[in-house]
Amino acid sequence: MSETGKKVILSGSTVTGDLTLGNYIGAINNWKKLQEDYNCHYFIADLHALTVAQDPLALRERCFSFFAQYLALGLDPNKNTIFVQSQMPEHAELAWILTCLTPMGNLNRMTQFKEKSANTKNINAGLFTYPVLMAADILLYQADMVPVGDDQRQHMELCRDIVVWFENRYGEGHLKMPDAFIGKSGARIMALQDPTKKMSKSDENDKNFVSIIDSPKKILKKIKSAQTDSDTVVTYDPEKKAGLANLLTIYSVLGEKSVEDICKDYEGKMYGHLKADLADLVVETLKPVQENYTDLMKNKDHLEDLMALGASKARVRASQTLKMVYEITGLIPRRS
Ligand code: TYM
Repeated sequence: MSETGKKVILSGSTVTGDLTLGNYIGAINNWKKLQEDYNCHYFIADLHALTVAQDPLALRERCFSFFAQYLALGLDPNKNTIFVQSQMPEHAELAWILTCLTPMGNLNRMTQFKEKSANTKNINAGLFTYPVLMAADILLYQADMVPVGDDQRQHMELCRDIVVWFENRYGEGHLKMPDAFIGKSGARIMALQDPTKKMSKSDENDKNFVSIIDSPKKILKKIKSAQTDSDTVVTYDPEKKAGLANLLTIYSVLGEKSVEDICKDYEGKMYGHLKADLADLVVETLKPVQENYTDLMKNKDHLEDLMALGASKARVRASQTLKMVYEITGLIPRRS
């Protein structure tokens, strides 16, 4: 609970590629809804992005772009604390302390580490300890709830384990045990060309995802060429018709309509009709977002001001937690 009496929410996205419909539907759409009633902290995880090699100039540009996309998607910097992870050194400080409590065996079992390291030649230690930094992001703000997509479930479990290891070493009641908040619908949007894997912003095949800032032409092309099956009847069957089920889920969340109602609307119609209408819906949903985004990107100074505002708001909770952690772990807290 925060000073305002509101529960604390924290979530973020790693600055790689561009935000996709998966990120929007699985996470940011929920962040937006929560901003009215909770004390929300949303950040862009640029330190996490460094776990894979980044071109420095491109990384900085992408940080501005992600920040602008958060705002354009409807996150209000006055209602929320919106900030850049690396502008808050407290994250890395707490991460180190938590790293010293986390057994290597648990990190070895992380499926995202296994997947990512299988595709990388030089596996760095940051890729391995990535979930501990994520736990620090959450615990630093004593967050009650963390709205994420389904793919972050295992990282959230590790974060909860870290709280227990911390309690075993230093006693109970210091760090808040956070809960994952995973939406019922759209928690795992699948890749358009391969509905057996999740839509990912770092996918090498850009036909697999729709990015928030894709042009209408691109969106139309990507959705029209999405993989479906050879049947023609529009029914929701994630096992046998995974590609179609994925399109129906996207339709249902963006159109705020149940999957059953959508299937009824397409009785006697072909998949092509559904794809064309879905493409229109995505384009229409993203149109105001893209206009807003283009405007915001014209004024980087303004974005930097908002980043500084976010960091100064974030520092209030972060410095309190870190001071408490320094005290109980035997480190000497800095004078403020
Ligand atoms: P990231 O950047 O991969 O994704 C950001 C959010 O989008 C969700 N998401 C999806 N949801 C549904 N379908 C998909 N295809 C899909 N792809 C992504 C993710 O679950 C996530 O909620 N490690 C995190 C970033 C992070 C973080 C944190 C999150 C760093 N520290 C602390 C929460 C709390 C990540 O890489 O998310």
